[in-house]
Amino acid sequence: MLVKAYGSAVCGIEAITVTIEANVSNGINFYLVGLPDSAVRESQQRISTAVEAVGLRIPCKRIVINMAPADIRKEGSAYDLPLALAVLAASEQIQAPMLGTTLCMGELALDGTVRPVRGALSMALHARDCGIKACILPLESAREACVVDGIDVYGVTHLAQVLDLVEGFGEEPALKPDLSQNDGLLQADYPDFAQVRGQAQARRALEVAAAGGHNVLMSGPPGAGKTFMARCLPGILPPLTQAEAVETTRIWSVAGLPRSEAGLMRSRPFRSPHHTASVVSLTGGGASALPGEISLAHNGVLYLDELPEFPGRALEVLRQPLEDGTIQLSRVRYKVSYPARFMLVASMNPCPCGYRDHPSRECICTEYQVQRYRNRISGPLLDRIDIQLQVKPVEVDDLIPERTGVFGESSAVIRRRVEKAREIQRERFSHFEGIHTNAHIKVDQLPLYCSLQKESRLFMKQAMRRLDLSARAYHRILRLARTIADLEGSAAIEIQHLAEAIQYR
Ligand SMILES: Nc1ncnc2c1ncn2[C@@H]1O[C@H](COP(=O)(O)OP(=O)(O)OP(=O)(O)O)[C@@H](O)[C@H]1O
Ligand SMILES: [Mg+2]
Repeated sequence: MLVKAYGSAVCGIEAITVTIEANVSNGINFYLVGLPDSAVRESQQRISTAVEAVGLRIPCKRIVINMAPADIRKEGSAYDLPLALAVLAASEQIQAPMLGTTLCMGELALDGTVRPVRGALSMALHARDCGIKACILPLESAREACVVDGIDVYGVTHLAQVLDLVEGFGEEPALKPDLSQNDGLLQADYPDFAQVRGQAQARRALEVAAAGGHNVLMSGPPGAGKTFMARCLPGILPPLTQAEAVETTRIWSVAGLPRSEAGLMRSRPFRSPHHTASVVSLTGGGASALPGEISLAHNGVLYLDELPEFPGRALEVLRQPLEDGTIQLSRVRYKVSYPARFMLVASMNPCPCGYRDHPSRECICTEYQVQRYRNRISGPLLDRIDIQLQVKPVEVDDLIPERTGVFGESSAVIRRRVEKAREIQRERFSHFEGIHTNAHIKVDQLPLYCSLQKESRLFMKQAMRRLDLSARAYHRILRLARTIADLEGSAAIEIQHLAEAIQYR
């Protein structure tokens, strides 16, 4: 008997349907065709043992399984479940008419347990668009897939449960998305801005950056609190919107990174790769075309601590994604593109010893050493960073206040202001796909969103002449001033907003 089942392959964050045809006839042998890799070929052993665990068996007959389209390489162990179901149905051990309208994926353990798969959310989205009615997925993967409207998703943990589900199909209710906002990111995972002493200017700059999604570079002496403040950032970023949550979860799901039980991610990702990271780990790629750090940071923050220590090539590859918000990975075996729209936050010392321009300590670096250190960060990269901040050492009076129990503003308070400014931006860009924040306003849209009134124009002209600013710098100042005005709730960009924006260069 010939049976068809459906599985799915992910390429980048896009899924493709894989049709599995199984035929059992008289004879003896097991053929698996359609460009399976060795992990898929090994499934025969896993399937036969797992099937025995539920009291059935792979018949000693001539079994031919074809995985179509035959020109796409089928990788990994996630096809175990559809292969097992197809063979069991083709050998008439189970009745499963629903296989023709259902997508199944899952790896089988020898005792019949079903293990999670990568890319379940992309698979469910694609399946729905292809008119498939239901998905049977491992429970962990089903939690993210069930947020897709218009398709029933069933989460399973064991092959026996799959067989029950298949036999009495339609009786069991489909999985419902867990709408509780908590995604397990605990308050304790990041410090609170209340613990940061002094540093009023840096705090304000980080608030502006968070509000408008602007890139920031902090430069200052050791122990000033650069790393500390950057790590406070997750606490002031607003939660992901539904659309952003789907985008980011798809990437994390393809990467197979552990997430909470809630399914969709709710908090913005904060990725801080070490400076020994390889170029491929940053951009993505490798043998299986997995997403890199810049894609995992999509809709969130990519924090590069000790920026000049990163290899030059690793920094240069950031330039194109910083501009386009995506990265195209092109190799002999695949061509995929991943979203990579992130807020770049970086920190560095002003020189190798760290004390250049320090108010009280002497710098021991030579002019040449300083130049060499700073040259590691190229002009074009610097040019893409809207806020370049000199962080001063903490004042003693700030560090040890007169009275105990004096704290700065907490992250929760700052976050409320940031959320308000983001709300304004969401309205503003509601009919522009791909733009969520002021940092991404295109040059041709600047006159529309960042128009200046007469006095502001005059002020800007004088400032440009006095500071000898370039055209690109002008555009960056306009975007920043837009964010500062949004934080204040002002529709027009006033002189004070421009003045603050200029000071961040
Ligand atoms: N403004 C501050 N308020 C409270 N604590 C601070 C402040 N700045 C620094 N600290 C304390 O000092 C520690 C070191 O700071 P941090 O690692 O952020 O310095 P840094 O500027 O990144 O230095 P480096 O240039 O050496 O990386 C922090 O963990 C924090 O406990
Ligand atoms: Mg540091």
